Amino acid sequence: MRQANMGLIGVGTMGSALALNIAEQGHDVAVWNLDLAAVDGLIASAGNLAPRLVRCDTIEALVVAMPVPRAIILLVPAGDPVDLNIDALIPFLAAGDTIIDGGNSDFRDTIARTKRLEAAGLAYLGIGVSGGSDGARRGPSIMAGGTAATYASIAPVLETICAKYKDDPCVAHLGPDGAGHFVKTVHNGIEYADMQMIAEVYGLMRDGSGLAASEIAPVFRSWNRGALESYLIEVTAEVLAAKDPATGEEMVDMIVDQAGQKGTGRWTVIEAIRMGQTASIIEAAVGARVLSSQKVTREIAAHLLVPAGTDTMIPISEHDLQSALIVGRVLAYAQGFQILNAASDEFDWALDFARIAEIWRAGCIIRSAMLDDIAEAFRNELPQGHLVLSQHFIKVLTGNIAGLRRVVSAAALKGLPVPALAAALSWFDTIRQARGTTDLTQAQRDYFGAHSFRRIDADGSHHGPWHGASDV
Ligand code: 6PG
Repeated sequence: MRQANMGLIGVGTMGSALALNIAEQGHDVAVWNLDLAAVDGLIASAGNLAPRLVRCDTIEALVVAMPVPRAIILLVPAGDPVDLNIDALIPFLAAGDTIIDGGNSDFRDTIARTKRLEAAGLAYLGIGVSGGSDGARRGPSIMAGGTAATYASIAPVLETICAKYKDDPCVAHLGPDGAGHFVKTVHNGIEYADMQMIAEVYGLMRDGSGLAASEIAPVFRSWNRGALESYLIEVTAEVLAAKDPATGEEMVDMIVDQAGQKGTGRWTVIEAIRMGQTASIIEAAVGARVLSSQKVTREIAAHLLVPAGTDTMIPISEHDLQSALIVGRVLAYAQGFQILNAASDEFDWALDFARIAEIWRAGCIIRSAMLDDIAEAFRNELPQGHLVLSQHFIKVLTGNIAGLRRVVSAAALKGLPVPALAAALSWFDTIRQARGTTDLTQAQRDYFGAHSFRRIDADGSHHGPWHGASDV
């Protein structure tokens, strides 16, 4: 049996692409998949990389195809398949071997698996791999969690296969056990928010201004040359310009408007709320996907409640739409980093936010020109550790907020939904309101539950004069 220096289990889209990427960097990769036909297909299509792929008939054959200590990457769907493969591997592994989970796993599962594997004398690394299949093939952004020693043992491979931003490898050891998968989860939450805000702006141009997809495409293409330069804006322009080969219609018009989700966006919101953080823009994006899937209800409601978008449209300039996306993006990143900050405190991860922004600058789905400024902001003194309070982003926000305000107002008056952009605007207006309205909330809580409140002019805990009660 030929020897390999890496093992890879799971040759779906991501696994196949990553296997080829690793092989291209000069490594011999032992490959196994539950359905061996997929391995045969991968090798048949691997061209000059085929000799570097070692086909293994069984999971045991994959293990014995490598010398100790071994490193085996799992690229299987998150959840049970990860545990099933770990269980199948353990009997054949030796002390010091490492299992690396490259899927979108829940970070809590990664923490539990790390404990389990370490108790068995094995090492475990949870890596968030972003960039879709193209990224996996040509260079993804990689967010790693595990012990420093385990990371160091695999870092030389990760550093060669990952994306590079001006020669800087987009991979980092972010913390122990679940840290990498948590950061990847929040990355995906930001991805959901950015995609939703882009879709909302597309919707305003389509349903508000009556533009065809192919007329909207050049707008996104031009934005990709400015402050919004990013993979997601580039993808949007290409998607909107595409024609359906079967009908000749705009491709996007032929697609059912029901979005799927595998869980990472939802997990981001759940974890944020659990830690007492707000992820309102990400939550709006998750909610929009949920409502998108309730198509039958929407169709009935459109009939019974008067369809959305029938009110008069106030013209919106392209410049305002661009501003709306700029502000929305800054605030989605800001919410994401606040969630990372809370998790870093809670789990004692000491996350390096500047480094996280740096490794997102290339390879990943949310890569954008803005991330360089975000990294820079985190490298400098940041009031309250909050991105929106950096000198740079204060300028960006104040320069663009009027555009977002006009866009959300026009959408509201036209009756078109912009849940994520509206959430961004409300978040902005809330965070800059030094005296908010929860004085009333506190009064209500005290009125019906005697919860007490603090006074602006005296220390201590107080009650209001409701029900004839007096101060305590
Ligand atoms: C990436 C992507 C990738 C995938 C997510 C989100 O960073 O490469 O985030 O991991 O797109 O699984 O998928 P859903 O939209 O299906 O939740």
